[in-house]
Amino acid sequence: MQSTETQLRDRRTAMIREAVPDDAVRLLHYLDEVTGETDFLAMGPGELNWPEEKERQFIEDHHRADNKLLLVAEIEGQIAGILGYTGDDRPRLRHTGEFGITISRAFWGLGLGTALMQRMIAWARTSGIVRKIGMRVRTDNERALSLYDRFGFVREGVVTRQFAVAGRFHDAYLMGLEIDP
Ligand SMILES: CC(C)(COP(=O)(O)OP(=O)(O)OC[C@H]1O[C@@H](n2cnc3c(N)ncnc32)[C@H](O)[C@@H]1OP(=O)(O)O)[C@@H](O)C(=O)NCCC(=O)NCCS
Repeated sequence: MQSTETQLRDRRTAMIREAVPDDAVRLLHYLDEVTGETDFLAMGPGELNWPEEKERQFIEDHHRADNKLLLVAEIEGQIAGILGYTGDDRPRLRHTGEFGITISRAFWGLGLGTALMQRMIAWARTSGIVRKIGMRVRTDNERALSLYDRFGFVREGVVTRQFAVAGRFHDAYLMGLEIDP
């Protein structure tokens, strides 16, 4: 997959590309930082205790599989956001999967999330396998909901107690987008 350039709202340019194994250390640092910036992720600060080797394998696995994708967005050489879509391995579920997205707080609201979503959906349409993109998002995550609504994701149901953060449960919408080539 080729890298693409996107102009952001502040006129800076972001480069979006597939992650490569040599990104492993930088991605781990990035995840360590962003998990401390928001309560909306499935993982909290310091929870990703993966060694570099495991991260390299994760990246390679996503690169090799026809129903997985790991995208990195860079601004001026710095990782500013990532999006990962993981398809199921079982034959009857291989056409389905869930994605996660996170942008560094310093770059929120510039259109980077939009650019990553566009790239994932375009890839899904030509993947030859992906027919449904799903995700779970906290019902109070207004910014993410506005992004997903814009792309036509449907709120298919509410999953109660999906997240437990600082001793409080939070419900999530189960959202989905059907993909037709
Ligand atoms: C959610 C997230 C991925 C969005 O990325 P982003 O780069 O800020 O998204 P964009 O700039 O492309 O678009 C955000 C949209 O939200 C809107 N928005 C911004 N603040 C908002 C708010 N407080 N309430 C509602 N909508 C808001 C923006 O107007 C924009 O829509 P528009 O382009 O139609 O104006 C990013 O904010 C993030 O990483 N958040 C923390 C982690 C997270 O919540 N991940 C998703 C878990 S499911």
